Amino acid sequence: MNKVKGLKNKDLLGLKDLSVEELQLILKTAVSMKEVISRPIPKVPTLLGKHLVTLFYEPSTRTRTSFNMAAKVLSANITNVALSSSSISKGESLIDTAKNLEVMGVDAIIIRHNMAGAAHLLARQTRACVINAGDGCDEHPTQGLLDIFTMIDKKKTVKGKKVVIVGDIAHSRVAKSNIWGLNKLGANVVVVGPPTLMPDGIEELGVKVSYDLDRELRDADFVNMLRIQRERMDKGFFPSIGEYAKLYGLNAGRLKNARPDLVIMHPGPINRGIEMTSEVADGPNTVILEQVTNGVAVRTALLFLLLSGNN
Ligand code: CP
Repeated sequence: MNKVKGLKNKDLLGLKDLSVEELQLILKTAVSMKEVISRPIPKVPTLLGKHLVTLFYEPSTRTRTSFNMAAKVLSANITNVALSSSSISKGESLIDTAKNLEVMGVDAIIIRHNMAGAAHLLARQTRACVINAGDGCDEHPTQGLLDIFTMIDKKKTVKGKKVVIVGDIAHSRVAKSNIWGLNKLGANVVVVGPPTLMPDGIEELGVKVSYDLDRELRDADFVNMLRIQRERMDKGFFPSIGEYAKLYGLNAGRLKNARPDLVIMHPGPINRGIEMTSEVADGPNTVILEQVTNGVAVRTALLFLLLSGNN
């Protein structure tokens, strides 16, 4: 697989693996792709003849749709393998599925899986480019990229900025990718959440741990509210949804002590009334839908860099 000089691997598995230069290259390329996407006819022939497959073992609206749109902007073919109507439902393994896709001539597999490490496993088994669209509680690198792209779009840089990541840190692959990427680019990251949802040793990733959202919001530049991932919780991690919302949810009252230019983010889908009230979700400081728009640009940039073979 050819790739643009600048990304050293054939795959994108996590922001943990990327150098600062690679991160900056993707973010810079996404600025160009945002311009391409804004054209009356948002289509260039760069990936004509390339075949991409999405292989999602978990549901998705934003990630899968934006990868589809990105592929189409670059004139690539893309096929969505649906879990329920594919042979995965008959018990075919991930590796067998990937090997069969590979011999059909697939150039890239975009995978979401409930097991951490699934994308890494696949990348070792196939010559095709593998893009991690979320693996268990490990990483969601394109979400991390689009979050950082949105932050830079709003405040020019993340260097020296305070980013507060709130909620279910333990189960959140979005938090991990944000932490890896933001630390590399010089942001000050604080994670806030219930002690039961704070993984042991998270400080070793270079973040400050806090349990006091009100205190951390006072001087924050960005707050990234994470979704409560009930599908990954096999026991009660907090007494009640109401208590969680009271301690860790955003509402208008809580924002009174924050800076007026605080940028409020959420990867989606939002549990309205839990992570934030609708008043906040739809309010003037919130950039949640801009994040989604930027996701198309970031994913277009990534496909271009991994698959175009141009320099
Ligand atoms: N943020 C995110 O990954 O959304 P989807 O699950 O809809 O793809």
